[in-house]
Amino acid sequence: MSQPLQIGPHPVDPPVVLAPMAGITNAPFRTLCREFSGGRGLFVSEMITTRALVERNAKTMRLVHFDDSEKPRSIQLYGVDPETVGRAARMIAEENLADHIDLNFGCPVPKVTRRGGGSALPYKRPLLRAILRSAVGNAGGLPVTMKMRKGIDDDHLTYLDAGRIAVDEGVTAIALHGRTAAQHYGGEADWSAIARLKETVPEIPVLGNGDIWSADDALRMVRETGCDGVVVGRGCLGRPWLFADLAAAFDGRGPEAYTRPSLREVAEVMLRHARLLGEWQEDEARGVIDFRKHVAWYTKGFTVGSEARRALATAGSLDELATLLDGVDLDQPWPLGADGPRGRTSGRNRVVLPDGWLDDPNATACVDADAELATSGG
Ligand SMILES: Cc1cc2nc3c(=O)[nH]c(=O)nc-3n(C[C@H](O)[C@H](O)[C@H](O)COP(=O)(O)O)c2cc1C
Repeated sequence: MSQPLQIGPHPVDPPVVLAPMAGITNAPFRTLCREFSGGRGLFVSEMITTRALVERNAKTMRLVHFDDSEKPRSIQLYGVDPETVGRAARMIAEENLADHIDLNFGCPVPKVTRRGGGSALPYKRPLLRAILRSAVGNAGGLPVTMKMRKGIDDDHLTYLDAGRIAVDEGVTAIALHGRTAAQHYGGEADWSAIARLKETVPEIPVLGNGDIWSADDALRMVRETGCDGVVVGRGCLGRPWLFADLAAAFDGRGPEAYTRPSLREVAEVMLRHARLLGEWQEDEARGVIDFRKHVAWYTKGFTVGSEARRALATAGSLDELATLLDGVDLDQPWPLGADGPRGRTSGRNRVVLPDGWLDDPNATACVDADAELATSGG
């Protein structure tokens, strides 16, 4: 890495970004990750659809909530219509809702790509350009970054063209997930694509994303690709202390400084995570219910037993969660092998697209607004 990572006016040191993850990277989870990192790094919100934002949908307005400790505040937007994206960017700037806007072009979900949204969109170069121009032009000087995949499939790669267009339009940095939409989450992320993007857009920072499961993976990605920073997603699911390891690694404090929590320490983090979710939702039970999806990730590799795991994942209150955790053997050390892959890992091989979508990448296109009805982000 030649120089420290800078996102507009914001230094990001260590050059580590929490990947936006729908349903996961809300204020409570970001707070946990940030605490473990010692407040260092960039922590991006879950994806916010532009239409819901400009319509001030109540649930969406909760998603744009940041804890007071969050600086800079990063919002990820997803939109398919240049005008609506511009209105959303202007609203963020004028109402001081965030300090940085990231645009999501990586969603591979069929109900989104079928309409030309998500990772299908960059194939239509003029539409991508119009969205980026509108976002940058309306963001009132806030840095605008974009996050994308390599393309639709190996025969329809878009990331290098998209990178050049992004530079033309004043985008501040680009994050690349080294998979195509067709790969979904299967196979291995192609880090060589990150290196190629860096060569193609030397003017702005390139952030590498895909399959960072440990702090050493992050260092290796930087070494192998020349990227300016890393974006970490699934590796921190049920493991927010990975951000402590990442900070240590980039500080040059090697594996001996890495966090290896016992199950007792993990249980404390679990309870805190569930409590924060309840406070955020102003409803303890809803927080605990929202926390259920995290149970399997936190307990991965520990000997908990399927019955206890099931009970933990159906708990209805913090007291119940605490009692259930007390009932398992908490004196277990961090299990060997629990540092590996977690979260979605499956692939797909066909991307559903609108009829004729691939005919002409340079044709003017517009995308049905229902392509914003994404539920699962990336
Ligand atoms: C549950 C989940 C939700 C996601 N939501 C989003 C999202 O809202 N926006 C986005 O750009 N990417 C999203 N992604 C993709 C991640 O940001 C990231 O690009 C991907 O997981 C690859 O990185 P990783 O190998 O570190 O997990 C999501 C991924 C997962 C697993």
